Amino acid sequence: MNVSDSERVASSLVAEGYELTQEESEADIILLNTCSVREKAEHKLYTRVGQVREREDRPMLGVMGCVAQLEGENLFAHGRGIDFVIGTRAVGRLGDAISRVGQGEDRVIDLGEREEDYDWSVSDRQRHSPYVSFIPIIEGCNKFCTYCIVPFSRGREKSLPASEIIRQVRRLMEEGVSEIHLIGQNVNSYRPSSAEGLEGVAGATPFSRLLRAVAQTGIERIKFATSFPRDFHPDIVDAIDEHENLCNWVHLPVQSGSNVVLRGMRRGHTVESYMRRIDRVRESHRDITLTTDIIVGFPGETEEDFQDTIRLAEYCKFDSGYIFRYSPRPGTPAYELEDDVTFEEKTRRFQELERVIRRTQRESQEKIIGKTLKVLAERVSAKSDDVLTGHSTCHRVVNFPAGRHLLGKVIEVEVTESKVNSLFGHAKGI
Ligand code: 5AD
Ligand code: SF4
Repeated sequence: MNVSDSERVASSLVAEGYELTQEESEADIILLNTCSVREKAEHKLYTRVGQVREREDRPMLGVMGCVAQLEGENLFAHGRGIDFVIGTRAVGRLGDAISRVGQGEDRVIDLGEREEDYDWSVSDRQRHSPYVSFIPIIEGCNKFCTYCIVPFSRGREKSLPASEIIRQVRRLMEEGVSEIHLIGQNVNSYRPSSAEGLEGVAGATPFSRLLRAVAQTGIERIKFATSFPRDFHPDIVDAIDEHENLCNWVHLPVQSGSNVVLRGMRRGHTVESYMRRIDRVRESHRDITLTTDIIVGFPGETEEDFQDTIRLAEYCKFDSGYIFRYSPRPGTPAYELEDDVTFEEKTRRFQELERVIRRTQRESQEKIIGKTLKVLAERVSAKSDDVLTGHSTCHRVVNFPAGRHLLGKVIEVEVTESKVNSLFGHAKGI
């Protein structure tokens, strides 16, 4: 979501006549986009502010993103040298803030709401890849998991009209984009205020109807994230089974494998209900890749609870997983609980879980050796000029030797080797 925000901000500033630079030392204005999901991310902001402040030419400095929204005015005191602060839904007025600072105004702040006519599009030049585009379909979150700051930094759920999403998909197809990611904190609770754009499209939930409607545009590949277990309706898997262009990848954060901890996190799902979702995913004929997020060391998590998480990870055979050490976030309900698992113990649990997920990842990747995956050639590998890198439909990173003329194409790659977090193979027929 943050990458997507940065792309849109870059697009709107260029449209207003600003020029982007890749060289930080050349910049007259520096804008820091921030994350507050864990304490470490928040600390990074203050380090970066300190670095910019040391510059003699004193560029204009602004802060956007979740830390801006949460800290607001406090940022001016805490991070001396900050000229303006723009909240998560105020990014459409960034140009105004810059002009006001340019005219001499001090400490400009805008934490206001999004404009009704906010432009969600990203110009092709500002996309992180020319062939892949993010499309936010819902912003904010109403779930209030007890450890999570997102409902406070991103506000309440608001869905974009399906007609607008489909219009964006069609425009991106014309621009040569092959893959879109429908994004949101919880895409499964997509609930637009009208059915405009979904007329005549079947589905058990507005999100599965949207998936089918987007699939019908004929765009080559559609991925979506993040899913929320309680709202992950089996009809989503039915839609994937029906439409080849809905990619065979599901990111379904479980957070814990202990019902006691899940209750404490107020996730609204149990280990058993999660397993039922996974069983449906595994039943698909599409060979769906399953990835997850897990927090270790939530307040009160015992060794027994943690072993339940290990057992669940073994059961689910995750193809990949992001593991986080619990980080108390001020303002969240869990912040009131004692952070009673030591950092060392969190690290030990992190490593034990990582070993299990690495193993299930290796086992699932080894099954792919000798098979052919469809890979979007996204860029030249950082390690070698003769190797291209991209993602398969199942969202695995695949590297393969090939020339740059294939960039942007979907290539059939026969997998020959499995590495940590990536596969290696050879393009067929070239
Ligand atoms: N501490 C640790 N991890 C967290 N996450 C969210 N909040 C916290 C926190 N306070 C993790 C969750 C979420 C991912 C994006 O970040 O696993 O799915
Ligand atoms: Fe945070 Fe995700 Fe829970 Fe929303 S659903 S509160 S974003 S962890």
